[in-house]
This record gives sequence, structure tokens and C-alpha cells, in this order.
Amino acid sequence: MSTTVVFSESLNTSALNVVVIVSVEDGIGFAEKRLLPIVGKNATDSIVKECDDLSYGKVKSFRTLTVDGKFIEVIIAGAGKRGSANRANTEKLGGFIYDAIKSKNSSVGIYSDLESGLELASAYISSGLLLKSWVFDKYKSKPESPKISSIECQTCYSEHNGEEFSRLECLMDGVFLVREMVTEPANVMNPDQILEIAMSLKKFGVKVSVLDQRDMEKIGMNALLGVGRGSDCQTYLISMEYCSDKARDKIALVGKGLTFDSGGLCLKPANKMGEMKGDMTGAAVVIGILKVLAAQKAKANVVGVIGVTENLISGKAQRPGDVVTSLSKKTIEIDNTDAEGRLVLADALWYTQEKHSPKLMLDLATLTGAIQVALGHEFAGLFANSDYLASELEKSGKIVGEKLWRLPLHQSFADDIKSDIADIKNVGSGRGAGSITAAMFLKEFVLEGIDWAHIDIAATEWDSKNRALSKKGATGFGVRLLIDFITRYYENNSRGESVL
Ligand code: BES
Ligand code: MN
Ligand code: ZN
Repeated sequence: MSTTVVFSESLNTSALNVVVIVSVEDGIGFAEKRLLPIVGKNATDSIVKECDDLSYGKVKSFRTLTVDGKFIEVIIAGAGKRGSANRANTEKLGGFIYDAIKSKNSSVGIYSDLESGLELASAYISSGLLLKSWVFDKYKSKPESPKISSIECQTCYSEHNGEEFSRLECLMDGVFLVREMVTEPANVMNPDQILEIAMSLKKFGVKVSVLDQRDMEKIGMNALLGVGRGSDCQTYLISMEYCSDKARDKIALVGKGLTFDSGGLCLKPANKMGEMKGDMTGAAVVIGILKVLAAQKAKANVVGVIGVTENLISGKAQRPGDVVTSLSKKTIEIDNTDAEGRLVLADALWYTQEKHSPKLMLDLATLTGAIQVALGHEFAGLFANSDYLASELEKSGKIVGEKLWRLPLHQSFADDIKSDIADIKNVGSGRGAGSITAAMFLKEFVLEGIDWAHIDIAATEWDSKNRALSKKGATGFGVRLLIDFITRYYENNSRGESVL
């Protein structure tokens, strides 16, 4: 990260070109006191007059002269009721502040009146600013000039904020890696490239191993291999292990890694196809999480497994009506070549259980367009076979502001994926509940006794609009969510006992 961030007990205001004051509803006096020595009485009075509404998210920007006769941008950010600040809304406020900054390449100073209720407010505001500042401009001949070159926060808890911010920096690195991988076009972010990125985790102490096509043929991973048959790219199953203590419960993360999903012979319409370069988001999030855990030197025992391939067409591509025998030995009728993610996951989930015997297993996938119809872009779909696991994941969603909504995994949907010719088919016969039948399909490949959750991120990984913490485009949804879940899991579980 190129922006430097410092937490200290006082700010060197003469070096700043943007001053941000975060003020609670009844706290304009706080802003007044900070502004007075910087811009003098007249400017302070006129700014204060315009800030009668400090409800949460009201952010105003002013350009004025300092007492030394220099132009400065003053931003007053409303934080709502005193005591209402938490991590999620404070990070979001950082995002709103970022949007309000007009100057380029600024040294930003932040005074915040949230500390009394939230010691780490400064760290969260800064991370919100930086999450929102991310851009992908490597293919532009004229890169965008950055808005922020440095951030300095005044806080009487500078050490705590500094420590928390270094954790958040590792976290943002993971989020940015995901956004980058998702935004890169499929001619660059192909299976070999994903393998290279996974391999690069070795230098952080992550153990990485790979099954190539021949290895997978030998053990019968035909559900995964079938998806990649129409592409000239390689198909890989990549495992990444980060373990600081073997005595702890093992958590497995499984990700869908379609570097491109044309739909296969059941070809997608042209207007829906381009965005399918992002169909590897689940895999990217798994890589991102492993990178964050290793960088944070977290107490954890986590294995990430990703199935990486490309769904294209050629004379070798699989056809609707084909039957494949999965690694689990269950046979699958391919009713629709565009329902390929569940085929990849079927083998990846089974392999993960056989090879790594995790205590709990979470999968992330851009699995269904139907999840957008059901939940829109703000909530990812959550499916779980354990109420406790579901509620802990939902709790993490609330803590970091990456929200989940649970949908049913009910036996009444199972008939929908019965096949006339094989054990199961890869799409439902009915018209509705496409995300649920997809999850029911996955459940066929989860062993009894394993706590499992499936998160459908098809509509949250990318947005055509700006969001609180990301501009239009890739969001990196999932990294912050699961790092919080994993961290809390092992904190509550310090003797390696199960909390589930
Ligand atoms: N990768 C898609 C799901 C998707 C759609 C992700 C839109 C992001 C945005 C998945 O492989 C797919 O094509 N699913 C089909 C399933 C159908 C054939 C049962 C879908 O959602 O249309
Ligand atoms: Mn598809
Ligand atoms: Zn797909």
C-alpha cells in the first residue's frame, strides 16, 4: 500500500491539505474547537453554521483559507448519535469521507469524536478511506492520479489504532488481491496465472500443492475435469495450507475458480458473458484469505482448496445429456453445461473431506444468477447444515458489513435434481429456487458430521454501482467476512476445542 497512515496524539496541521472532522450529532463543539486554530473564527463560524445536520453519513466539504493564508479543504463528517459507532458503520463512514475529498494527492488529517465509544475508530476510518480508494488502472495509458498520499489521525489510543491498522493493512492487501484477480481479464487471469499466484503464497509459509489433469484422471475427478474439457487451458485442483498449530480444529475453505464461464455448449447470451471473467471469485477469495492469515501470523489451522478451470466450447466440450462419475463415485447427468460451478465444487468438496478431514468446511462460489434475483447485491446467500455455524457467519457479516442472508437447505427441494439416468443431475427440473437447488446439489457431496456452509457470492462480488467501500466493479466480498469468522473461531477456541 502506498499511502502512509500514522496515528498520533496531535496533528501537524501546517502540513495538511485536507482536514477531516468526524463529529457526532450533538458534538459540533468538537469540530469548532479543532477548526478554530486552523482556519480562524470567521471561517469556523460559517462552516459550523452549515453543519446543522450531523446525522450518520452526512458529509460536507468546504474550501477555505487557513490562518497562514493557504488553501485547505475541510470535511465535516456526521457520525450520527453518540455511542452508535461500530466497526462496520465507521469503515463505511471512511468510504463516504473518501468520496467527499475533492483535492488530489492530499495529506489528510483526521480528528474524530468517536473514540470515547470506539477506541479503534481512527483505524477503521482510515481503512474505509483506503478500501474505497482502490482503482484498477493498469491498462489505462493515463492512470488516475491518487486522491490521498498520506493519512494522519489524532487519537489518544495511537498504539492500539496502529496495531489494529497493521492487521487491517494485511486484510486490505487480501481484499485488493481479490479485486485485482477478479478485474483482470480472462486472457490474463487464466488457470496458469491463478496457479502462479497460489504458488506465491509459499513465501509466506503457506504449503501449496497441486493436482494437474493427469493426477485428477487417476483418482477420478471427472466432474471437475469434464467442465474444463472444452478449453485449451489447464484444469487444476490447488490446496493451500496455513497452520500455526496442528492441535486446532481444521477449517477448510473451498472456492469455485472458473477463469471464464461461457456457459459451454449451453452458451450464455453475449450481454451476460463478459462479466464471467469474475467467475473465479470464490477461488480468489480463498487465496486472499490464506494470504491474510499468513501475513497476520494468525492462530489458525486452515486449508484452502480451489478447483480452477475454464468453461468453453470445442469439439472436446462436454454435452448436455453426458454422464460423468464424480470423485465420490456418484454419477451426475449434465443437464446444462452452464451449471458448471457445482460440478467443480462437487469434486473439490469431496477431495477436501477425504484428504484433509476438516472439522468444518465453507465454500464460496459465484454459483447462481438466481441469487441476484432473490437477494440483490447487498446480501450474499448463505446455506448451512448447522444453525450455530450459520449464526456465527451472519454475526461476522454484521461486524464487517458484508451481509449474509440464510436460505433453506430443505429436503423438499431434493426431488428437483433427481435424474432418470444417473444418481443426480446438475440442474433442477422446476423453474424456481435456482440458488437452493444448486446448494442442494452441493449438499450431496458433503459428508454427515461435517459442519458445512455454502456462500453464493454471484451478486455481491461485483457491482455496477459504487458501494460504500468499493467503486463500481469488484468488491472483494468474502475476505473481510471470513477473516473475522476465522479469527473469532480460534479466539473462542484457544485450547483447540470445538465451539460448534
Ligand atoms: N457463473 C454462473 C453464475 C453467475 C451468474 C455468476 C451471474 C455471476 C453472475 C453459473 O455458472 C451459472 O451459469 N449458473 C446458471 C445456472 C443455471 C444453468 C441452472 C445460472 O445462474 O443461470
Ligand atoms: Mn455457468
Ligand atoms: Zn459459472
